[in-house]
Amino acid sequence: MALFGFCCRVELIFGPGALARLGEAARTLGMTRVLLVSDPGMVAAGHYQRGADILERAGVTVLPFHDFGCNPDTEMVERGAAFAAGLNIDGIIGLGGGSSLDCAKGINFVLTNGAPMRQFHGWGKATRPMLPMIAAPTTAGTGSEAQSYALISDAETHVKMACGDPKAAFRMAILDPELLVSQPDGVRAAAGYDAVSHAIETWVTTKRSPLSSALSREAWRLLDGSFERVFARPDDVEACGNLQLGAFLAGLAIENSMLGAAHACANPLTATYGTTHGVAIAALLPHVVRWNEPVVGGAYRELSPDLPARLETLAAAAGLPVRLAPLAVPREDFPSLAEAAASQWTGRFNPRPFDAAGALEVYECAY
Ligand SMILES: [Fe+2]
Repeated sequence: MALFGFCCRVELIFGPGALARLGEAARTLGMTRVLLVSDPGMVAAGHYQRGADILERAGVTVLPFHDFGCNPDTEMVERGAAFAAGLNIDGIIGLGGGSSLDCAKGINFVLTNGAPMRQFHGWGKATRPMLPMIAAPTTAGTGSEAQSYALISDAETHVKMACGDPKAAFRMAILDPELLVSQPDGVRAAAGYDAVSHAIETWVTTKRSPLSSALSREAWRLLDGSFERVFARPDDVEACGNLQLGAFLAGLAIENSMLGAAHACANPLTATYGTTHGVAIAALLPHVVRWNEPVVGGAYRELSPDLPARLETLAAAAGLPVRLAPLAVPREDFPSLAEAAASQWTGRFNPRPFDAAGALEVYECAY
């Protein structure tokens, strides 16, 4: 039996209406002046104002930051940290999708440790204490609320950097399924399928453990059972809750098991063509599962008798492509994309040994 560790750093509050607990959660963590990081879409949807009102009613002063995009990069994060520097804040809250949550973490690194974002690429680079943080996700997807990694793009190279530190974990995550009802369809699809891919990839990595496997399996059960329901009826709060909890558990599985070749092959598409992460993942995941089948086919069949076909059905329910051709990825770029995929850190944990030749096979199969 292999040696393994397990860690969960975040306290969870889950259920319809849970956002109402945001003020009390902030007070519990000693917050009196918070930076509320929430993207412009959250302002338009009214979620930002609701969150701010709940905090103000609890006596917490709210200082907003909205000046960032859907793929937070080093410049946006550093702008946020410069803005927060003079505000004397004692906590940070991310309210929104994965971009708001990752941006909140990135700002915390730069603000408290006084160095450019690039210096935190990797694991454990923060030497000084960081501010306590709360996550209130409004999408079911990245699972950022369960992880101590921030995914921040390099503003010059567009490479997605995973910047992790135990101190960068959210202290609390508030999962309110009612917040998911207003997600735009495209966001619901790309984010939801990303969560599915996290359950599938963590289930078979070389780093998986009995505990990460329990998380991956339950995440898959919840996501598989409610994914189509959410697309048929976006106001089905129970199905939204299953998706949100599934995404959280899958995120916790990543924290303990890492990811695999679908993420390694997807990241260069986002860096090169700006392809939305979940869309790139949908076009690749069924093919990666087929490519891995000679090594872990039995494990996949524990989840579904024909997992690649099931994954294609889920993508179709969300209106996502299951091939690269519709994404207009030029085939002649495959060799350079494969080189970039092989250098991705997540590829190292794929169950079938993964290199540039393997990545090229995956892209060709997915075309
Ligand atoms: Fe992902």
